[in-house]
Amino acid sequence: MNDANTDQTAVVFGGKRGLLGQALVQTLQEQGWRVCALGREDVDVDSQEALTDLLSRLRPGAVFNTVAYTQVDAAETDVQNARLLNQSFPCRLGRALPSPEIPVVHFSTDFVFGGDQRTPYTPLDTPRPGTVYGKTKLEGEKALLQLDLRRLFIVRTAWLFGPGKENFVSKMLKLSAEHSRLRVVHDQIGSPTYTLDLAAYTLHLLEKTPAGLYHIANSGRASWCELASEALALYGSSCQVEAITAAEYPQQAVRPAYSVLDNTAFSQATGIKPRPWPQALRDYIYLSVECSG
Ligand SMILES: NC(=O)c1ccc[n+]([C@@H]2O[C@H](COP(=O)([O-])OP(=O)(O)OC[C@H]3O[C@@H](n4cnc5c(N)ncnc54)[C@H](OP(=O)(O)O)[C@@H]3O)[C@@H](O)[C@H]2O)c1
Repeated sequence: MNDANTDQTAVVFGGKRGLLGQALVQTLQEQGWRVCALGREDVDVDSQEALTDLLSRLRPGAVFNTVAYTQVDAAETDVQNARLLNQSFPCRLGRALPSPEIPVVHFSTDFVFGGDQRTPYTPLDTPRPGTVYGKTKLEGEKALLQLDLRRLFIVRTAWLFGPGKENFVSKMLKLSAEHSRLRVVHDQIGSPTYTLDLAAYTLHLLEKTPAGLYHIANSGRASWCELASEALALYGSSCQVEAITAAEYPQQAVRPAYSVLDNTAFSQATGIKPRPWPQALRDYIYLSVECSG
């Protein structure tokens, strides 16, 4: 518990039911913050006036934005709504802040990268998104960066798993109970990341770290197939995992073949080295088993 934070309200957009939002709320509360968790019923994402009004009433000590249009395939055809949530909303949120000095953490994605390189992406690498989701998220970053916010942190993260909401790992565990074999893509490589780790790492940014763009993910890399195999092994499942290519599992949005994130800038700024994803996965699986058992 950090007593220094007890008189501050952290406002978490997406904090009621979002995958990352819930982890942030839990972690902020554990660290002594007063937290205001907002769901979609509390926020009119389309109205600058309503947002300005909301934030002037809440008088936040820090703002976290996890609101996003995260359905990567649906975004390909629902472009208008993807733009509204991923691009226009962050900009409105930035403009609605009562003061440019208030720390704002906005989350973005590894999908801003095209997947054409084979070494981990740093914040200095040039984004080349190939999906509507990635393009609109990148536009959201740019819109925020154009505002004169003194303590803006843009955090790109990737491949989230954690408690409170369905995610890739929980889906695999559920499917493993219903099937003896799962076919999972092996030629897309990324950075699996535990939401509770990400939330804890993110809060370190607020402690004297220079504002800017950071990549934060658990360390290591995996394909979806490796992540599923490790999760099922930890879960004690006898379900087999078969590696397939992305071409054998066609999806509307073409995901990057490689989107591993390089945490070095974050580690240099904070002194924190994110732990390897298999360790984090073990905590998550054991937590899931405990909760269901
Ligand atoms: N999930 C991943 O693997 C992943 C990977 C890389 C980056 N990210 C980024 O991390 C952030 C959090 O992702 P997540 O997986 O936690 O997202 P999520 O679980 O899908 O949550 C998205 C949030 O957006 C809110 N939202 C959606 N439509 C809304 C609307 N019309 N009005 C108001 N709020 C609305 C939802 O509110 P309700 O809860 O009220 O419905 C929800 O809390 C996002 O910026 C995402 O781009 C995620």
